[in-house]
Amino acid sequence: MFIKSLVSQLGLIMITAMAVTACNNSTEEKKTENNTDSMKTGIKRSDFGTVDGKPVYLYTLTNAKGDEVKITNYGGIVTSWISPDKNGKRSSIVLGFDSLSGYLAKPPYFGAIVGRYGNRIAKGRFKIGDSTYSLAVNNGSNHLHGGLKGFDKQVWEATVANDSVPVLSLSYLSKDMEEGYPGNLKVNVVYTLTDDDALQIEYTAETDKPTVLNLTNHSYFNLTGDHRNTILDHKMMIKADYYTPVDTGLIPTGELKAVKGTPFDFNTPEKIGTRIAQTGGNPVGYDHNYALKRSDNSLQEVVTVTDSLSGRKLELFTTEPGVQFYTGNFLDGSIKGSDGVPFNKNTGFCLETQHFPDSPNQPKFPSVLLKPGEKFHSITKYKLSTE
Ligand code: GLA
Repeated sequence: MFIKSLVSQLGLIMITAMAVTACNNSTEEKKTENNTDSMKTGIKRSDFGTVDGKPVYLYTLTNAKGDEVKITNYGGIVTSWISPDKNGKRSSIVLGFDSLSGYLAKPPYFGAIVGRYGNRIAKGRFKIGDSTYSLAVNNGSNHLHGGLKGFDKQVWEATVANDSVPVLSLSYLSKDMEEGYPGNLKVNVVYTLTDDDALQIEYTAETDKPTVLNLTNHSYFNLTGDHRNTILDHKMMIKADYYTPVDTGLIPTGELKAVKGTPFDFNTPEKIGTRIAQTGGNPVGYDHNYALKRSDNSLQEVVTVTDSLSGRKLELFTTEPGVQFYTGNFLDGSIKGSDGVPFNKNTGFCLETQHFPDSPNQPKFPSVLLKPGEKFHSITKYKLSTE
C-alpha cells in the first residue's frame, strides 16, 4: 500500500487522536457544552431521520470563528459548510440539502464518504492472489464508488469529542463480502474542524482478509456560496505533472500522461472554464485523476482554488497520491436544492483525494491492497480563508 503509516504528524493530529481515544471510551454519544463564553464552539446534535430502522443525526460543528460544518452519520455526509465571504456574508460553500429526504433520493454522492473503493474498477472485477472477485456493475460496464450500497448509503456510528476543537468520529463495519469485497473491514473516519477554518478528515481501517480499499470524500464545492453560479470562473492550481487518461468508460488506460501543453495543466493557476471545452469526454468537462507531485507521503498542500467574487480560497492538503478533479459534469438541473434552485452542470467541483482509479487491475499504479495486520491511514484537509 502506498501509504501505510505516517511517522510524524502535526500536533493537531495528535490532539485529534487523543480526542478520538477519549470519545471512544465513552459508551454513549454526548453533546458538547459551549466551551467559550463568546462563541458557541463545539458540537450540537439534532435528529435527522431514520434509515434502515436506525436513527440518523445531524451534527453541527462550530469553531471559534463561527464557521459551521454540518455532518450526518448517514454516509458521513458533509451537508453544509457555512463560512463568511470577503464582505462577511455567510453561506455554504458545499452542495447539499437541509433534510435527509434529499439524500435518500440518491444525489450523486454529495458530501459523502465513498468506499470501499472510490471511483471505478473496470468491469467490476479484480483479483487478489488466485481469487477473482465480482462487484456490482453500476456505471456503464464498470463498478463505481463501492457499488449499489456503498459507504455513502450506510448509517455510521458516531461519537463526539468535547475538546478544544470539534471532533466527530464515525465508525463502520463493512462485513466480509459486502458489495462483493472480501474481509471484515473496520473503518473509522474522524472529522475535525479547526479554528483556522480547516476541515480535516482522517481515515483509518483494518481488515481480517486481504482486500482493496480506496476511501475519499465526495464534497462538491462552490466557493461563491451560491449554487446559482457555476464554478467556471474559479481559479485552480493543481501540483501535478501527470494525469491518468481514460477510455470512454472513464477507466484509466494505464498511461501516466504529461499535463504540459494540455488543458489538464494547472501548475499555474488558471480558471476552470478557460479550457474545459477542450477536455473531451461525454459530458464534456474535467473528470480526471491527477498523479500529485509530492516529495514524500506526508500531509502536503497539493491544490489551491480561489474565487474572486467571494474572495474565498480553498487549500487542499493530503497524504494520498492522487486527486480526482471533477467539475460536476453529470449535474443536469434535475436535482434541486432545499431552496428550490436546481444543481446545474458545473455548479460544483470535487477534489476527491484517492489512490488511482482501477488500481486493483493496474499493476503499475500504487497498490490499494490492505492485508490483515496492516493499518490503513490517510489524511485530507480542506482549509478555507478569504483574501
Ligand atoms: C466521480 C466520478 C464521476 C461521477 C461522479 C459522481 O467523480 O469520477 O465520473 O461518477 O463521481 O457523479
